[in-house]
Amino acid sequence: MINHTFKDEVAIVTGAGQGIGFEIARQLALNGASVILNEIDERAAENAAEKITAEGGIVHPMVGDAAGMHFIQQMVDETVRRFGKLTIAVANVGVTIHGDFFEYTQENFNKTVNTNLFGTFFFAQAAAKQIREQRTGGSILLMSSVNAHQANKYLAVYSMSKAGIEMLAKNLILELSGSNITINSLAPGATLTNRTLLEQDDFEGSWAKITPLGKIATPCDIANAALFLVSPSSRHITGQCLIVDGGWTSTSPSPNKVI
Ligand SMILES: NC(=O)c1ccc[n+]([C@@H]2O[C@H](COP(=O)([O-])OP(=O)(O)OC[C@H]3O[C@@H](n4cnc5c(N)ncnc54)[C@H](O)[C@@H]3O)[C@@H](O)[C@H]2O)c1
Repeated sequence: MINHTFKDEVAIVTGAGQGIGFEIARQLALNGASVILNEIDERAAENAAEKITAEGGIVHPMVGDAAGMHFIQQMVDETVRRFGKLTIAVANVGVTIHGDFFEYTQENFNKTVNTNLFGTFFFAQAAAKQIREQRTGGSILLMSSVNAHQANKYLAVYSMSKAGIEMLAKNLILELSGSNITINSLAPGATLTNRTLLEQDDFEGSWAKITPLGKIATPCDIANAALFLVSPSSRHITGQCLIVDGGWTSTSPSPNKVI
């Protein structure tokens, strides 16, 4: 955890009922930020908010689809109504649907692109409009993946969406820097979450074996980097992607077979 207080900061974290998003919301709240915790699953949202509140954090759950145009604006409006402003927006939500390129369905393509690209773009837009209007400055963080950098079989659409997210962060410096808004992306490597545990047999062991540091990331490893990228410590960093992968991207063998 970095040594910085987020006491005057107000954040939204999308897709934060579990996994990486939860840990980012938790660490922001425990370091003083007021946090709107978004999650599509009502029970997950409530559980997550209860856990953070029990630890002393200020957090308000908002149940809804982070890629829904109307809901995105509702989140921003509710943040301002409840906490007076918005200074940090973390577009964490993302869906991963594996599939053979030759058989990939339009339905899975649309779901991936809608959540990962449409949702990220319009959430960033709504957050940036609010921060620009406040004239407070702020930070936007977009969640990418190592798959935006290296090929991984059956993840063509996901990888394409994450590469788009990184380019979005790079491109927007031209329109956001004048409002003192930084925008960066964060690319985790294999990270142990409830979802990835179910994704493949021995997810942890098979990725640890092919990661130079010999272990996969925890959500805490990713949240530490996220907090840095939305803190004043990174105020001169914008349009960049930070890869947090234990060195995997430099060597990049596949966990299933070496291609
Ligand atoms: N876990 C990894 O190994 C890994 C690696 C690289 C990148 N990432 C990226 O990190 C982010 C978080 O990954 P994770 O593994 O923690 O995910 P996760 O699946 O564990 O958690 C995501 C949460 O988002 C919620 N959600 C899904 N769709 C939503 C929507 N439309 N609106 C609101 N909430 C929604 C889910 O219910 C879930 O609680 C994603 O963008 C993912 O692509 C994860």
